[in-house]
Amino acid sequence: MDAIKFENVTFGYHNQTPIIENLNLEIKKGKYTVLLGHNGSGKSTIAKLAIGLLECQDGNIFIDGIELNEKNLNQIRSKVAIVFQNPDNQFIGSTVRDDMAFGLENKCVDPNLMDAMIEEYAKKVNMHEFLDTEPTNLSGGQKQRVALAGVLAMQPDILILDEATSMLDPIGKKEIFDVIQELKVKRSEMTILSITHHIEEALFADEIIILNNGKVVKVGLPNDLLYDQNLLNQNALEAPFIIQLEEKLKQANIPFEPTLDVKELVKQL
Ligand SMILES: Nc1ncnc2c1ncn2[C@@H]1O[C@H](COP(=O)(O)OP(=O)(O)O)[C@@H](O)[C@H]1O
Ligand SMILES: [Mg+2]
Repeated sequence: MDAIKFENVTFGYHNQTPIIENLNLEIKKGKYTVLLGHNGSGKSTIAKLAIGLLECQDGNIFIDGIELNEKNLNQIRSKVAIVFQNPDNQFIGSTVRDDMAFGLENKCVDPNLMDAMIEEYAKKVNMHEFLDTEPTNLSGGQKQRVALAGVLAMQPDILILDEATSMLDPIGKKEIFDVIQELKVKRSEMTILSITHHIEEALFADEIIILNNGKVVKVGLPNDLLYDQNLLNQNALEAPFIIQLEEKLKQANIPFEPTLDVKELVKQL
């Protein structure tokens, strides 16, 4: 069964020209999928449709096999957590601690366990010293860390990250990525859908979906898609740095250990 399934979904803002037309999309359960597409390709629209923030004009959306409709919206929202690009719109609590508690209360977490969980997850994203700070006093990157800590603590079945690390520097991005990987190892059944135009993230995906103008152009493995220069060019994407380097070394006849996995190489950087 797919964690997220779009069946012939059509959607246009204000019922006007569709941004997305007859879209079929399958996000596999327990996998780390990266939805790649340049700005304006419809990624955030898809994320909002998947959690019922927007309603499609035609077609069906299924979350864990359950059809998304008004009747079971709450049931679906209890399974899915999302972090958006702009964290400003996501804070409810007056302090970081309150904000994280809010999500956990909604999940009916035992109040006796809650404090420890908040501390644990705030620590994972390096925000434990800010637990009593008002969210408005945090930088964009810090807000993203808090938003991520909040949803990770909730341990959702399905986690959607919509450009959720866009305000972090490369080290910050890697830190968050490591936390997510660690969580994924502990809970292998968790589905992660990372929506991004940042191609480096796609190196580690179980599956990549390339989106352009609201249409799925290609679905495949990193090794098949990220070396395909034509495919990337046609979709206004650039190969990850490490692959560009590998190709340049090959062109220059500089020996490159072909058995060396690029992912391992990136980890060593
Ligand atoms: N609230 C909105 N009202 C009207 N058009 C919108 C709205 N939000 C996004 N769009 C349009 O929908 C298209 C897809 O946007 P979006 O899903 O945000 O793309 P992405 O997340 O890939 O950058 C763009 O052309 C954008 O201008
Ligand atoms: Mg977007």
